[in-house]
Amino acid sequence: MRLSRYFLPVLKETPSEAQIVSHRLMLRAGMIKQASAGIYSWLPLGYRVLRKIETIVHEEQARAGHIPLLMPTLQPADLWQESGRYDAYGPEMLRIRDRHDRDMLYGPTNEEMITDIFRSHVSSYKDLPLTLYHIQWKFRDEVRPRFGVMRGREFLMKDGYNFDLTKEDALHAYNRHLVSYLRTYERMGLQAIPMRADSGPIGGDDTHEFLVLAETGESEVFYDSEITDLKFGDREIDYDSHAQCRAVLEEFTSRYARTDETHDEALFNEVPEARRRTARGIEVGQIFYFGTKYSEPMGAVVQDADGASVPVHMGSHGIGVSRLLGAIIEASHDERGIIWPEGVTPFHCGIVNLKTGDAQADAACEQLYAALRKHGLDPLYDDTDDRAGAKFATMDLIGLPWRITVGPRGLKNGVVELTSRRTGESEEMSPEAAVARVAAIYGVA
Ligand SMILES: Nc1ncnc2c1ncn2[C@@H]1O[C@H](COP(=O)(O)OP(=O)(O)OP(=O)(O)O)[C@@H](O)[C@H]1O
Ligand SMILES: [Mg+2]
Repeated sequence: MRLSRYFLPVLKETPSEAQIVSHRLMLRAGMIKQASAGIYSWLPLGYRVLRKIETIVHEEQARAGHIPLLMPTLQPADLWQESGRYDAYGPEMLRIRDRHDRDMLYGPTNEEMITDIFRSHVSSYKDLPLTLYHIQWKFRDEVRPRFGVMRGREFLMKDGYNFDLTKEDALHAYNRHLVSYLRTYERMGLQAIPMRADSGPIGGDDTHEFLVLAETGESEVFYDSEITDLKFGDREIDYDSHAQCRAVLEEFTSRYARTDETHDEALFNEVPEARRRTARGIEVGQIFYFGTKYSEPMGAVVQDADGASVPVHMGSHGIGVSRLLGAIIEASHDERGIIWPEGVTPFHCGIVNLKTGDAQADAACEQLYAALRKHGLDPLYDDTDDRAGAKFATMDLIGLPWRITVGPRGLKNGVVELTSRRTGESEEMSPEAAVARVAAIYGVA
């Protein structure tokens, strides 16, 4: 993309309505625009990151063997009357009446709808296990929408639902989701810690929330500091192996880590004092096992091997896709702007032309641009005639992790400059070497 042809409405001033850094930076970097309280348009730069996050989520779901589909945002009220949640959900549910006076709602979650799909099409234990998921907009009429996309009213969520014959199989599905979520967040450059949580209106006994540590997080968290040393890394996991998935769950959940809702002071005090931490965290996901809570009232049953009709064991598992943008920025920024982890950056590399109009500089930038694209990379080339300082400030604000700076002076010696946004360190090298380095960083050399 050439900046002169892009739509990047960056703001010079810090918007006064934004209370936390991620919200401020998303507005300043021209990523989102508020449409009304808690409802946002995703401008091109924000939309690119949102798509990257979605892609990682889809890839990791596929790796775990989960199947994507797409359910609508508007749902009929009768499904929710069947489960008993239509009255239980309260004012967070946006209720709508259509022209035929039918009660509808904008889905805050999809347990009922997926259970309806399941019961319509699956009747034998032979079709299990089955995990279906989608990435779809949700609406929750939050009392206090705030912090930009962190607590929106309309927000994008990945929600997945497992259907299993036995509790044991459903708990395996739970563990499998935990493993796939650990991988998902790490690919986004995040450490998200699974913590024992409260089940809330979804219901059920077993549940963990995934929290990213950040001062601006809305949850108070208590944990054993050893937990932050754990890394999933690039280990290979057989997602069908109950033992392997359970071992990961045990590794990542055996140390004390709880939110204020489930915090137990006596248990916490058993952690050696030097390792006890109290902090704040952002909830970026949650997994639940809830057994037959929906399958029983809604009649989602299968025939087991003996021909008996049994309700399926279920769980649901969510990732806050749009909230993740805020969480990543909270975890990765400095006073000049955002610092995107390579896994989610909207463009892989910036190219700054210090002297647009200079024939040699223009030609070198064009060559870099073409060479990077040949590797399948998306560079953002600042070909405008702004002054150098303004170009650097924009690149720093929007947070591309790598920048190649091209100017007549360097080109005289055959070099350009490659700069890391994270460390600020620059290195001079030939344009070819810069391309090779960036390609290697992204694993496409
Ligand atoms: N209002 C919101 N805005 C943005 N993301 C949200 C919002 N509510 C929930 N999410 C995201 O969706 C994920 C799955 O939804 P879940 O039903 O677990 O939310 P929740 O526990 O009600 O969230 P919270 O406690 O933050 O209100 C959450 O972990 C969170 O990352
Ligand atoms: Mg939750």
